[in-house]
Amino acid sequence: MKIGIIGAGTMGVGIAQVFAETAGYEVYLCDLTEEFAQKGKDRLAKTYEKLVAKGRMTAEIAEENLASIRTGTKEICTDVDMIIEAALENMEIKKQTFKELQAIVPANCIFATNTSSLSITEICAGLDRTVTGMHFFNPANKMKLIEIIAGLNSNDDVIEKIRSISVEIGKDPVIVEEAPGFVVNRLLIPMINEAIGIFAEGVASAEDIDKAMKLGANHPIGPLALGDLIGLDVCLAIMNIMLTETGDSKYRPHTYLKKMVRCGRLGAKTGEGFFKY
Ligand SMILES: NC(=O)c1ccc[n+]([C@@H]2O[C@H](COP(=O)([O-])OP(=O)(O)OC[C@H]3O[C@@H](n4cnc5c(N)ncnc54)[C@H](O)[C@@H]3O)[C@@H](O)[C@H]2O)c1
Repeated sequence: MKIGIIGAGTMGVGIAQVFAETAGYEVYLCDLTEEFAQKGKDRLAKTYEKLVAKGRMTAEIAEENLASIRTGTKEICTDVDMIIEAALENMEIKKQTFKELQAIVPANCIFATNTSSLSITEICAGLDRTVTGMHFFNPANKMKLIEIIAGLNSNDDVIEKIRSISVEIGKDPVIVEEAPGFVVNRLLIPMINEAIGIFAEGVASAEDIDKAMKLGANHPIGPLALGDLIGLDVCLAIMNIMLTETGDSKYRPHTYLKKMVRCGRLGAKTGEGFFKY
């Protein structure tokens, strides 16, 4: 099966890795330019180099996995069976991307989006086929969950197909109805936002906030490190979407989160967030 992945960022590359490591899948990893897509693949190659050096993967397997990933722009997706869109968390970009893809991909190609919080129903509006949420978690190669999200006009056969693909690639999916933040992010992102508030008020250091939640709530990673891992820009975008969709002030992003994003401290991907990388 051929999978076109749109966006070779944190998630796109992780999702590409998952499919490349499963027999029977070929990946077309796409970004705005061929160079961006190649850079994404290079990051995976670096990860594999480390695994090979540690003896946790053979050089042959690493090479085989990388060989199943083609790179380019979305125009290469002429014969894919499924698109998983993982570009920026922006409604206009997602809508425009699918609109353009309709003219490129085969008529029976499945459309899925990795959106963290946008309305699947809205992404799908005006297209010639349904779009289903296929929400991977970061790091996509390690996290078992996929939230499969049904919009108002989703199709049960497509949902079932995505469920069976999810199981085939080693994931354990849940099927949920569309709602702002779905299940995980509606709980998780406000918690990270609150941790940022605690930090900004000087209640505790970043290290101690994270230590408190690891030792006191048995979380495997603290909320600030998790925000850095997800990307603080992504966290801000999700808070804003939940706030706009519900109008409920409990989803107001903390001003300190906005400041971090404004100065480009986005977390692990920029080398600095609440911690240095
Ligand atoms: N980061 C996370 O933890 C996480 C988890 C689950 C879902 N998501 C969702 O996945 C999506 C991607 O997030 P990310 O963290 O990988 O972002 P990212 O910023 O790391 O990567 C986005 C990539 O998309 C590319 N891009 C932008 N516009 C494009 C377009 N029109 N066509 C093709 N490529 C385009 C960018 O060049 C970039 O390489 C978002 O919708 C996000 O909400 C993120």
